[in-house]
Amino acid sequence: MKLAILSRNSKLYSTRRLVEAARERGHSVRVLDPLRCYLRIASDGFAMHYKGKPIAGYGAVVPRIGASVTRYGCAVLRQFELMGSYTPNSAAAIARARDKLRCHQVLAAEGIGLPTTVFGDNPDDTADLLAMLGPPPHVIKLNEGTQGAGVMLTEKLSASRAAIETLRGLYAHFLVQEFIAEAKGADLRCFVVGEKVVAAMRRQAPKGDFRSNLHRGGTARPVRPTRAEAETAVRAARILGLRVAGVDMLRSRRGPLVLEVNSSPGLEGIETATGIDVAGAVIDHVVAMATSRKRAANAVLTDS
Ligand SMILES: Nc1ncnc2c1ncn2[C@@H]1O[C@H](COP(=O)(O)OP(=O)(O)OP(=O)(O)O)[C@@H](O)[C@H]1O
Ligand SMILES: [Mg+2]
Repeated sequence: MKLAILSRNSKLYSTRRLVEAARERGHSVRVLDPLRCYLRIASDGFAMHYKGKPIAGYGAVVPRIGASVTRYGCAVLRQFELMGSYTPNSAAAIARARDKLRCHQVLAAEGIGLPTTVFGDNPDDTADLLAMLGPPPHVIKLNEGTQGAGVMLTEKLSASRAAIETLRGLYAHFLVQEFIAEAKGADLRCFVVGEKVVAAMRRQAPKGDFRSNLHRGGTARPVRPTRAEAETAVRAARILGLRVAGVDMLRSRRGPLVLEVNSSPGLEGIETATGIDVAGAVIDHVVAMATSRKRAANAVLTDS
């Protein structure tokens, strides 16, 4: 099959591994920088060019769209979809998954466990906002934060209030969550492909920290998720319309609690920790889905 990896940088580990896995399986594969694709949009036909040449005929595309290029990256991905390519994560699903508040709302509405969260664009009454959450400790997170930067723990109500007032003074957007102490500084990353968790790792915070991000000195080891954890991960991805997703969870007394669902999960951490060929699993899934979709379309044509 003719495959495209939509990625800004062909040297990135995840991109390289997807290319390698596709070639090992005998597929033709090309890395396309979404920002360099340009589009013809017309009711008599869609077209796309890249470096002066038309691109067409891709059976499937694997999107690796960074947060900073979500808008244009999704427009390019949508064009691929309109031109008949299969993608495990649609442009619409990626755009929706990037809105963290929306994800919290949608997942909670479907009964997925989450740490209780409060949020306000500009709440006048900090004490009442915190009363809606419950007693400290609290975890305060900047909306723009990533890799653990912008996540803080406050043990006392006075500290939560001071931190919130400081952030509000800086016009920062943030949310506040209950602190899940029994997670003991560890979280779980379940890598979902289709209807399965193909690999999972447990990340442990370094001594003295509660944030398990590998970028903050956390360590990762492979883990077998419980049935409840695997089901939660697969359901969360399905609810958000993602067929490739990294679902981060905390282990709590009331079961798995989802922290985040990542629509472009990195492969390096999970493949290194588990030794599993996650890139291969992604390629196998994408090719199988694209093939069965094509077969179904051909069956409709022969029926009519
Ligand atoms: N409510 C919580 N209770 C206990 N620990 C938490 C809680 N929220 C986050 N943590 C810990 O802090 C780490 C960082 O938090 P989180 O994953 O929410 O932010 P981030 O990694 O900076 O952002 P993102 O994952 O969205 O890129 C988590 O991996 C987890 O170990
Ligand atoms: Mg995280």
